[in-house]
Amino acid sequence: MTRSISGAGGGRRARPTAHELARYEALFAARTRGMKSSAMREMMALTERPDVISLAGGLPDTSTFAPELFAKLMAQVAAEQTARALQYGPTEGMAAAVDCIVEVMAAEGTLVDPDEVIVTTGGQQVIDLVCKTLIDPGDVIVAEAPTYPGAVPTFSAYQAEVEQIEMDADGMPIDELEGMLDRLQAQGRRPKFIYTIPNFQNPGGVTMSLARRRRLVEVAHERELLSLEDNPYGLLRYEGEPLPTLYSLDAEVGGTRAAADLVIYLGTFSKILSPGLRLGWAVAPRPVLEKLNLGKQGSDLCSSSVTQLFVAEYFKEHEGRGEPRWLGYLEQLKELYRRRRDVMLAALDEHFGEHARWTKPQGGLFVWATLDERIDTTDLLAQARESEGVAFVPGRAAYMDGQRGSSSMRLNFAGVSDDDIREGIRRIGRVVHEQLGLYGTLSGSSPAAKPQAEPVAEPTDDEPEQAPGLADVVELPRRDREDAARRQKDR
Ligand SMILES: Cc1ncc(COP(=O)(O)O)c(C=O)c1O
Repeated sequence: MTRSISGAGGGRRARPTAHELARYEALFAARTRGMKSSAMREMMALTERPDVISLAGGLPDTSTFAPELFAKLMAQVAAEQTARALQYGPTEGMAAAVDCIVEVMAAEGTLVDPDEVIVTTGGQQVIDLVCKTLIDPGDVIVAEAPTYPGAVPTFSAYQAEVEQIEMDADGMPIDELEGMLDRLQAQGRRPKFIYTIPNFQNPGGVTMSLARRRRLVEVAHERELLSLEDNPYGLLRYEGEPLPTLYSLDAEVGGTRAAADLVIYLGTFSKILSPGLRLGWAVAPRPVLEKLNLGKQGSDLCSSSVTQLFVAEYFKEHEGRGEPRWLGYLEQLKELYRRRRDVMLAALDEHFGEHARWTKPQGGLFVWATLDERIDTTDLLAQARESEGVAFVPGRAAYMDGQRGSSSMRLNFAGVSDDDIREGIRRIGRVVHEQLGLYGTLSGSSPAAKPQAEPVAEPTDDEPEQAPGLADVVELPRRDREDAARRQKDR
């Protein structure tokens, strides 16, 4: 009989005790200090309760993909390409998958040279490889505030010093960036790269304006700085005109039209097809690409051949009228997510009203809401989950210091049904009102105080609270839970 590591009961795996950890403490690398768990992680574990409505995940709705099509494509790969699918592939990725990537980028108006593409194990691996390639402990990264919560533990693990620039409705203000760069320069410091999510930012929901994109590329050229353009959501636009990628703007500056000098582009199939495939990519200047490739060899040798061939088969599919099927599916997703976004915005109007303000994203998966400054959303989450069975990502997860963003929250509208969105927002609204009522009672002030003008408080010199772990903020399923569900079904 095989011994189950997770225990026969299918319950959650116990975390090591302080005593157990102490035994290994001296062996751990210094960087692991940035990887410690947090109180929030414990709270996030409650999401496993089936009665919890979670607006916390970064999930697309994979139930929309036709099961027959999935089965057909997998069967084709299995029957026609057995040996290739079961074999290692090139580190830089299979040519058939790269062709699909070039097609996706062309759909966003960005021409790329297939030789400058590397296939990765999700977009997340690009962030990791870029840090592995560029960051020594203490090196500076400039990022938006708030930033992608899943990048926070990666930056911490590489011991980067991250300077975050508060965004407004047009994304990162480039004059602020220039001011920051001047200050750093005065200290003899030069950032290794500028990290930006220009489209429907995760978690902020805002989009960088065209003027700022152009200026960012100019500034990068004036100062010879690399940017990491993280763009999982560009094709998920529900209204407004698409904007050019930084990569394509940089290529124009360079004059070659097909290759950027100073932008590393991150793309992924996760949001336009499936995160379960674990396929993303980077497009980068050749010297950087070479190092990313070496870094990837050390990480996982290559990404899954099975899923690369699956994607290649999928991209061969066409609808009756000849339109590529992946574009048809993208339209279907856009329609669904647009509607869910509108449901969420209406629910926020109804249940948050004057106690909050929130972004109105033109695409992507997230709304960023900022509440009355007296509310700490990390505490609110604990209460929302315990008493109302609803979850969201507290704003602190999007700040390196784990302090700022304390009155904000990220809300996912894409992976949740209309009813759950309405009900989830109603429940959060109820806890917010309760807390404000309590503050009003304690202080004698009105409970109807406005949200703070700026969503952030200045960081303090106190020991920073641990940022949540990656698995928390992207809310991955736990192995024990999956096993338990499968065992239940197999019975
Ligand atoms: C901004 C951003 N970058 C990277 C990723 C990682 O995506 P992937 O599933 O391709 O690893 C995500 C996922 O939510 C994201 O939102």
